[in-house]
Amino acid sequence: MAFDFEKILIEKHTIEKRVIELGKKISSDYTDKELLVICILKGSILFFADLIRSLSIPVKIDFIKASSYGTRTSTSGEVKVNDLLSEKIKGQSVLLVEDIVDSGFTIKRILDFFMEQGAADVRVCTLLDKPDRRATDIKPDYSGFTIPDEFVVGYGMDFDQKYRNLPYIAVLKETEK
Ligand code: PRP
Repeated sequence: MAFDFEKILIEKHTIEKRVIELGKKISSDYTDKELLVICILKGSILFFADLIRSLSIPVKIDFIKASSYGTRTSTSGEVKVNDLLSEKIKGQSVLLVEDIVDSGFTIKRILDFFMEQGAADVRVCTLLDKPDRRATDIKPDYSGFTIPDEFVVGYGMDFDQKYRNLPYIAVLKETEK
């Protein structure tokens, strides 16, 4: 079955270039600190894997899963954190890696979780930022691309658990949704 997209929003080579830029910036910001980089499953897995390879500083990695309640297009704001962590958080500098910040409920909940665990500082790196949908006061510290309010898939992001493996970011046709 062929993919039927309305358009490709961000091409593979554009993502690659931007991820390298983000990696350089993050590496220079954390030269003096030991950094723990957190992959927020499942959506950020591809971005996370590419981003950590673009870092020139030694880092530790860990994983966390967040599930939000509500429909696909509107989150209720209730986010459950599923703690898969094995690394120590107390006193640690933490970088949370997200594929997309939409309402901001997910990342806010995870930020609060790490602060409650005693992290020394917590920053957010998102590949995509959709500020038009924001319902919280979250402002990512590092952001790859600001995008309009369109439903995107690919490069980790899904519709109905599909399309995560695409190497680019696309907007689905209405009929596909
Ligand atoms: C998506 C995405 C972010 C969150 C953003 O995760 O990966 O974590 O939604 O939305 P928000 O800013 O409105 O909270 P999802 O819950 O779809 O899980 P997934 O990463 O496993 O696909």
